[in-house]
Amino acid sequence: MSHLQIFAAEAIGHPVPSFASNDGSLIAAELAQRGIGFERWPARAALPAAAAPEQILAAYAPEIARVQALGRYPTVDAIRMTPDHPDREALRQKFLAEHTHSEDEVRFFVEGRGLFCLHIGDEVLQVLCETDDWISVPAGTKHWFDMGSAPHFCAVRFFDNPDGWVAQFTGDGIAQRFPLLP
Ligand SMILES: [Fe+2]
Repeated sequence: MSHLQIFAAEAIGHPVPSFASNDGSLIAAELAQRGIGFERWPARAALPAAAAPEQILAAYAPEIARVQALGRYPTVDAIRMTPDHPDREALRQKFLAEHTHSEDEVRFFVEGRGLFCLHIGDEVLQVLCETDDWISVPAGTKHWFDMGSAPHFCAVRFFDNPDGWVAQFTGDGIAQRFPLLP
């Protein structure tokens, strides 16, 4: 189930959240106040668990078209990560340190889950995105992402320019002070 926890960025030891909720509406409201987009999209019961990218993009065509109508994300794709992926640990480590992008990071979780950690002002917001969650992290937002040690997700990615989508690491060790996925 989707989950949001909000911590003080300066927290040390075992950080205790000042806010925690599984309620999609409350999560969306808290994130909207901080410029982060969050939606829960209706499930597609007819979509098979191992659907191909073309099937996924077709199944969510109405929602994808609505996002693309903004004119900012001309490219979409669908990727899948599995617990037996040979590069899972290297791929996990890649985005575990705080970074930014010069492009928005926009994802929809078709299956599985991933933990987005957003460092905004003096807060850290941890958003556990699960099946049917859509999140939009604006360019320049300091963040890190954890897929866990046994990653399982399928996500639709929205791009302005996929070639330009690279991480710029901040060098701040803040991510090490907050909980990650098992
Ligand atoms: Fe990122």
